[in-house]
Amino acid sequence: MFKLQNVNSTQPKYLQLAETVREAIKQGQLTSGDHLPSVKSISQDLGLNRHTVMKSLAELVAEGWIASIQRVGYKVVENLPIEKSQNPSFDTVANSPSPIDYRLVRSGMPLPTYPANDFEYNFAGGQPDLTLFPFDEFKRCMSDVLNRPNIAQLSYGQSAGTPELLEQVKIYLRKSRAITDREIVVTNGSQEALFMVAQLLLKSGDKVAVEALGYPPAMAAFRSSGAELVGVKHDIHGMCPQDLEKQISKGNVRLIYLTPLHQYPTTVTLTVSRRMAIYQLAALHKIPIVEDDYDHEFHYRCQPLAPMATQDPSQLVIYISTFSKIMFPGARIGIMAVTKTMAKAVAEYRLLICHKSNVLMQSALAKWMDSGGFERHLRRTTRFNLQRRDHAISVLKKYPCFEFISPDGGMALWVRLIRHPGRPSGLHSAEQLAIKCQQLGIYIQHERQFLLDKSRDQDGFIRIGFASMNETNFATGIEKLVECLHLKI
Ligand SMILES: Cc1ncc(COP(=O)(O)O)c(C=O)c1O
Repeated sequence: MFKLQNVNSTQPKYLQLAETVREAIKQGQLTSGDHLPSVKSISQDLGLNRHTVMKSLAELVAEGWIASIQRVGYKVVENLPIEKSQNPSFDTVANSPSPIDYRLVRSGMPLPTYPANDFEYNFAGGQPDLTLFPFDEFKRCMSDVLNRPNIAQLSYGQSAGTPELLEQVKIYLRKSRAITDREIVVTNGSQEALFMVAQLLLKSGDKVAVEALGYPPAMAAFRSSGAELVGVKHDIHGMCPQDLEKQISKGNVRLIYLTPLHQYPTTVTLTVSRRMAIYQLAALHKIPIVEDDYDHEFHYRCQPLAPMATQDPSQLVIYISTFSKIMFPGARIGIMAVTKTMAKAVAEYRLLICHKSNVLMQSALAKWMDSGGFERHLRRTTRFNLQRRDHAISVLKKYPCFEFISPDGGMALWVRLIRHPGRPSGLHSAEQLAIKCQQLGIYIQHERQFLLDKSRDQDGFIRIGFASMNETNFATGIEKLVECLHLKI
């Protein structure tokens, strides 16, 4: 029996009942030709006066939803009122087959079936702990911006970023990374920067040299320009210059993409000698290098190596970094530090995509940086992340099924799964483990997700993010993960 929709209790009862029946028809619970229960049974079931029920049904008859048939009762009509097609629910539209073939000629990245944040234990690498973010402090910066709005900035223009934020970022990059003499462009996260570089520098048939295990969104951005990706070998010292040379000698390599400080996903640091060798190769062949320095702030063993962009006499390096790890990914603030020519090209290209980044966020961030709040937060999160790295290492070391090198920095561990001699039927493939874990509310990433050449038989590692969860949850999550590992399949 229908339930009265009591959305608006001031509405007369007969209208509420009419609405309920109308909705049941729209949602397909009642379809053309279906009989409605008798007036008597509706009034008994719903505790309504018979006149109220009859008035309601008369309303529906007048609107054309139902018909009154002598000696039979009320039936849903064959041709339902036009309202149904004029006012379809969003679900109906979204789920119905498209009446038009849009002939999509490009695609983005597949949406995740289950976003990492929906999992009780989220080991996605590289996610900050948002509970540590000083929202109250940042709210004051945002309020300041709104209390004294800069009308000119809130309009179009300044596509490279607001002058205040550009100035703060310049100071920050000089102090924290010794990057000077560069033009800054503020982007909607690093991803927009990667996409723009791909669109501006690459065309169909070009090749991009990337680490054989790498960052899939960067790979997708480069591919979107029609470029082909070539995987370069890397080991515990980072990308191998000899293999890069081999790839370059085959021709058409137009860009090199590197994550030198913490190789993504393996976390190793590219050694100084290899940096120099790679740079010399790039200079010799006049190939720009995209240096993706996505988590520079979180380096624990010593001062992080200065970015390649600090020693770039040939002006090859396109330096990209992000505030996603220091603040939160939804802030969508990325930065590029590039030559004048490149900065102009990027600022102009942004006019095609989105004009500029969100001005309120930029202005609030500039105030936060200027006030010293940003640096305080940075020191605090670096301390937390270091503690969490050490804790993660101590937890994982308890289990003989894991083997890893303690990373000098970053927000994740790259962990090899070791076959458990006592349990030969346990899960050994990292991908199988990730799937099993998902079913039990645990999110981990596995090696194949990062692999450029999916035909390769590499499936032994998982990536365990340690920054986003408190220590208790981390330990419990790992305990559950180990249980999964030993499950029979
Ligand atoms: C290698 C790498 N580059 C860049 C980013 C940051 O992306 P964005 O600034 O678009 O949030 C990430 C984030 O996970 C990353 O892992």
